[in-house]
Amino acid sequence: MSEPVSDNPPVVDPGSGTPGGTSVGRGGIDATLTSYGDPAFSRFLRRAFLASAGYDATDLDRSVVGIADTSSGYTTCHRQMPELVEAVSRGVLEAGGLPVRFSTMSLPEILLSPTAMLFRNLLAMETEEQIRSQPMDAVVLCGGCDKTVPAQLMAAVSADVPAVQLVVGPMLTGSWRGERLGACTDCRRLWAAHRAGELDESQMVEVQANLCTTAGTCMVMGTASTMACITEALGLMVPGGATPPAASGRRLRVGTESGRLAVELAVTGRRPSSVLDRRSFHNAITALIAIGGSTNAVIHLTAVARRAGIPISLDDFDRIGRNTPLLVDCKPAGSSYLEDFDRAGGMPALLCELDRAGLLEREARTITGSTLGEVLDATHGSTAVVGHPSAGKDAVDAGRTHRAGVIRSVTEPFGPTGSIRVVRGTLAPDGAVIKAAAASPALLRHTGPALVFDSVEEAEARLDDPELDISADTVLVLRNAGPRAAGMPEAASLPLPRRLATAGVTDMVRVSDARMSGTAYGTVVLHVSPEAAAGGPLALVQDGDLIALDVGVGTLDLLVDEGELARRQVAWRPPEPPARGWRRLHAEQVLSAHLGADLEVLAPSPSPPEAGP
Ligand code: FES
Repeated sequence: MSEPVSDNPPVVDPGSGTPGGTSVGRGGIDATLTSYGDPAFSRFLRRAFLASAGYDATDLDRSVVGIADTSSGYTTCHRQMPELVEAVSRGVLEAGGLPVRFSTMSLPEILLSPTAMLFRNLLAMETEEQIRSQPMDAVVLCGGCDKTVPAQLMAAVSADVPAVQLVVGPMLTGSWRGERLGACTDCRRLWAAHRAGELDESQMVEVQANLCTTAGTCMVMGTASTMACITEALGLMVPGGATPPAASGRRLRVGTESGRLAVELAVTGRRPSSVLDRRSFHNAITALIAIGGSTNAVIHLTAVARRAGIPISLDDFDRIGRNTPLLVDCKPAGSSYLEDFDRAGGMPALLCELDRAGLLEREARTITGSTLGEVLDATHGSTAVVGHPSAGKDAVDAGRTHRAGVIRSVTEPFGPTGSIRVVRGTLAPDGAVIKAAAASPALLRHTGPALVFDSVEEAEARLDDPELDISADTVLVLRNAGPRAAGMPEAASLPLPRRLATAGVTDMVRVSDARMSGTAYGTVVLHVSPEAAAGGPLALVQDGDLIALDVGVGTLDLLVDEGELARRQVAWRPPEPPARGWRRLHAEQVLSAHLGADLEVLAPSPSPPEAGP
C-alpha cells in the first residue's frame, strides 16, 4: 500500500481522532488491525482513510456494527434490500453505534447455474472471513433468498461475533383470472398443468407475469421462508422477524429493531456461542416440522449445528418429527401463503402454540438476552415480546383475527406428526429424507421397478421419450446429482413423463441424491446418502430393479441380492471431478448430505462431541 502523503501540515483532526487512535484494545474500529509490523501506524493509517469517507472521532469512538448486504441485480428477491439496510443503519445510529455496510456475494436461486447450493459454502466462507477480518463489534446479516440465510448463519457461528440475522421477508401474492398465485408452488403446479396440456402457451405467458409480483422471497413455505422461521426459533433473530412481508412497513421496523439490538449485542458481547446449544436446535427442528418446512432445512440446520460444535443427525429430525404435528396451513403442504401466516401471528403465535403443548425447550437462550420461554410468556399475554416489543407485538396483535385458520392447535392439527421423515435401508445406508406432508399418502408405501437416469441432463433429454418403458408404478431414479457430483441441485422432483401426465397421473415415487425445492411437492425421496458419486448403493441401481419404500416403517431398500450388487460394485467407476477452481475444491471437500454438505476444511476445531440434541 502507498503512503498517504500530504503537503499540508499534519492535522490532529477533531473528526478523525488522535493519530494512532483512541480505542486501542477496545475493539471498535481499531480491532483486527491490518498487519504492517507497527500497530500504531496501522491505527493511524486506518483513521486517515476513514477520514476520507467522512468519519470523525465521534463516529469512530462508537461500537461498529457491520451490515452484510447480499443485494444484487441478479437477486430479485433482495431488490428492496437497500431500503432495509437503511432501516438497520437508522437503528444502529439510534442506539449509539456506527453502521458500516459491506457487500458479499449474493445467491440468486433462480439465476445461478447449476444450483445456488454449489455456492452456499462459498458465501459462508466469504462472509465468515469478512466478519472476522474487518473491524466490527457486531454484525447484522441481511439475507433472504434460499441459500443466503444458511450461509450467513454458518458464517456467524464460525466467526462467533455478536450477530443478528435479518431477512428481506416474503413477497405478496399475485393473482391470475381470479386465482391467487404465489411462487413457487403455483409455478410448479401450473407448469405441470401446462405439460399435461391443460394450459396453453399464451396462458402461461399471462401466468408468468403474475407469479412474482413484489420484492421479497417466495411466499410459500419454501426454503427461504423455512430458514427465516427456524432462525427465529433458533433465537438468532428479532422475535416476530421471520414473516413480515418485504413490502410492509413492519419489515422495515424489524430492520431498525435489528440494528438497535446489534448495538446492544456489541456492548454485551452476546455471541452465537453464548446463545446456541442443543435446546436451540431442538426448538428449530420442532418449528421446522410444525411449519411443514423445506427439506433443504435439514441439510442447512445440520451444517449450522456442526459449525457450532453441536452435531445433529437425521435421527434427531425423525425423533423430534414423530412428536410434532403439522400446525401451519401453508403451501406446499397446505393452501395458504406466508402473508396469511404472518397475519395469523407468524412465528410468535406458532411458538406459543408449541409451547403450550410442552414441545419446546423454554430455557433455550435467544439473542434478546431472554430465554425463549421468557419471550413466549410475554407473547402469550399479547402485551409485548420481552426486550423487543415492536415486531413481536405487531405480529401477535395482527393474528387475533386470522389465527384459527392458518395456525392450528396441537389438539386439532393441520396434519399428522412427521411432516419430514427419514428413511434408511440398503439403498440409503446413511439415510434419505422425504417430505411426507407434500407426498401422496397412497405412495408412502410402494414397491416398483426402477427407471434410472445417470444425470440431470439425461433425465431432461429422455423423460418425455414416448418409447420409455414406464408406468405409474415405476420408481424414477436420478443419480449423480448429489453434493460431490453436481453441487446438489433441486432436481429430485423430476417432472412426470408427459405421456403419464397427460394420462392423468399426478404423482410417482422418485428417488435421488439431489435436493428438492422447498416449494415443490410429490412423493420424492431426497438426499440419498452416500451419494452415487461417492460409491453409494444408488450408483448400482439398474433399470427394472425393484425399489421398496415404506415411510411408515422408515425404510428404503434396493431388492437386489448382495452378490449381484458386489459384482456391480467392482465394475463401478467414480465420475471425473471438475478440472479446476471452486468446483474442484468443492468436489474434493464437500461432505455428504447427512452431514450438512459443508466443506470438510470448515469443520469447527476442536472436533465436536458426538451426541445429538
Ligand atoms: Fe429467492 Fe425463492 S427464488 S426465495
